[in-house]
Amino acid sequence: MQIKFTLNHQPVTLEADPSMRAIDLLREHCGLTGPKEGCSTGECGACAVWINGVTRLSCLMLAAQLQGQSVVTVEGVNPDSPDTLHPVQEAFVNCGAVQCGYCTPGMIMTAAQLLACERTPSRERIREAISGNLCRCTGYHKIVDAVEAAAQAMDREIS
Ligand code: FES
Ligand code: FES
Repeated sequence: MQIKFTLNHQPVTLEADPSMRAIDLLREHCGLTGPKEGCSTGECGACAVWINGVTRLSCLMLAAQLQGQSVVTVEGVNPDSPDTLHPVQEAFVNCGAVQCGYCTPGMIMTAAQLLACERTPSRERIREAISGNLCRCTGYHKIVDAVEAAAQAMDREIS
């Protein structure tokens, strides 16, 4: 089946089995290894991408469901300045919020979407927003620090 969609702000057309999972299409057909496979059952958030601007789990979607959609992976999270880091990515680096890094792409997608909707979320709100993203390494404190720091940096930029 021919699948046409927008991937990281560029139109793509692929021949693919419509019943394959979206994460496999993205990783294997498109070469985008940002979305990670953790649980495969919708519980860890490692495979999170944006579909039409909303965070979705690519392990639970079929390739056919991408037809006509706008898909953004962590590789395309900073479209206005693709050669630089998104403020959330920068804050993760600066706050030491990355250890093994396996959860990081999904965390970034969830956090960046939160900050696109809410300028200065509380730490409780940040914890709530990332509650679907599991991290086995960091204990979450530095991740929450990073999202808070990114929110402050983005807020300063807007003000
Ligand atoms: S791999 Fe998709 S939620 Fe865990
Ligand atoms: S940094 Fe290792 S799982 Fe989060």
